[in-house]
Amino acid sequence: MLLSAKNNITMFSSASTSIGSGTTMTVKAATTLDIKSEAVGTMIFEGNSSSINLSGTSSTVTAKNASGTAIELTGHVHSQAVDSAGDTQVNTNAPVA
Ligand SMILES: [Fe+2]
Repeated sequence: MLLSAKNNITMFSSASTSIGSGTTMTVKAATTLDIKSEAVGTMIFEGNSSSINLSGTSSTVTAKNASGTAIELTGHVHSQAVDSAGDTQVNTNAPVA
């Protein structure tokens, strides 16, 4: 079955919606793809050698720690604690690789 429209296709259920495939599932957008859960969600890849690749420049992943602080993957810094040489605690640079 091919479902095709020139402009918009909308699918909505006030309860649950399921989409499944017995083999491969492909989801593709020519421009923007937005996936959102407005509550709790999970994303699980059970197969070996899975990957998530944000190949565009300035891409990042952000998660909040237990204190609610947003930690950006490509922008976070670590803290260098006071060391035995008497150096004070300072933050490191953001990771570059
Ligand atoms: Fe790190």
